[in-house]
Amino acid sequence: MTELPIHDYYPQASQLVYGCMNLGGGWNNNSVSDSDIKEATAIVETCLAHKINVFDLADIYTFGKSEEVFGQVLKSMPSLRKQMILQTKVGIKLTPTHEVKQYDLSPEWITKALNNSLKRLQSENVDILFLHRPDPLMDLDDTAEALNKLHKQGKFSHLAVSNMHAAQIAWLQSATTVPIIANQLQMSLEHADFVEETITTNMKEGCSSGFPRGTLEFCEQQNMQLQAWGSLAQGKYSGNGSDSPTEAELATSKLVCQLANRYSSNANAIVLAWLMKHPVNIQPVIGTTNTDRIIECTKAGKVNLSREDWYQLFEKARGHEIP
Ligand SMILES: NC(=O)c1ccc[n+]([C@@H]2O[C@H](COP(=O)([O-])OP(=O)(O)OC[C@H]3O[C@@H](n4cnc5c(N)ncnc54)[C@H](OP(=O)(O)O)[C@@H]3O)[C@@H](O)[C@H]2O)c1
Repeated sequence: MTELPIHDYYPQASQLVYGCMNLGGGWNNNSVSDSDIKEATAIVETCLAHKINVFDLADIYTFGKSEEVFGQVLKSMPSLRKQMILQTKVGIKLTPTHEVKQYDLSPEWITKALNNSLKRLQSENVDILFLHRPDPLMDLDDTAEALNKLHKQGKFSHLAVSNMHAAQIAWLQSATTVPIIANQLQMSLEHADFVEETITTNMKEGCSSGFPRGTLEFCEQQNMQLQAWGSLAQGKYSGNGSDSPTEAELATSKLVCQLANRYSSNANAIVLAWLMKHPVNIQPVIGTTNTDRIIECTKAGKVNLSREDWYQLFEKARGHEIP
């Protein structure tokens, strides 16, 4: 396997990233409980014991409680911080009543949001700061200046983006001196538009692909790490199912199960192995809070799907033959 682009900056980084969106006791106003801390501790320990050392957070996850609970884990076991690559995101603003969502990459908001994240995380800095989503009202120079300043202050070591296309990244990079090292996008067997856009150029059905054309190629050329959120497709093909499954979903789940047997693996690992077969070397971000499932996911690196199996899975999930 070729090196992950992120290895230029973090040679020890694992291919799997643990997504902390569901830590902290849910999206409610309850305070963090002892059992939330216990759950987060068990998850962090399981990840590290199975060589998952990149942790993905965001200021908004469970309204800040995800970072809070993670900070509690670090406080009780400070030595863990050195073993991990910690990433968080800013740029989505939820009002105190959590009703009106806005994107905000203004200097004031990103500075305040990052400082609050660091407080919750009980850390002096994060390794990678992600801009969570593009903000149509962003003033490029002001934002870039604020990022340069926060970087100089040592509050984050590397910059990354999420849900951005090639032109947005290049535009941002033109103004900031901090290199952008990663882009996190929704990519999975379910949300496979990153493959659709590759194979449907010049075709009517290609117009429905939501994935920005050229983004994968741009990121690869710039040696930017691609991370996939929603990588397990919420377990749709690996046991979680859905309320009224389509024929394609049922057929895909069946094939995932058969491949799990054939490759002596498990369904979650097959879903991730499909993503990891892509030569841009994607880092799947996994959001399961079930420690057994986390361990199952770590088996994905051992599965090298054949070209035929990869295409068959893709075709089953898209529901019809490729052009
Ligand atoms: N950048 C962005 O805009 C963005 C957006 C969304 C998420 N993210 C990041 O990506 C991470 C992952 O996203 P995600 O949580 O939406 O996606 P995911 O990893 O595809 O799905 C995780 C969810 O699916 C359930 N699940 C997975 N496999 C299962 C199975 N075999 N059986 C039953 N349930 C199963 C999990 O439940 P259990 O906990 O019970 O296993 C959990 O609720 C997040 O934690 C976050 O860090 C980033």
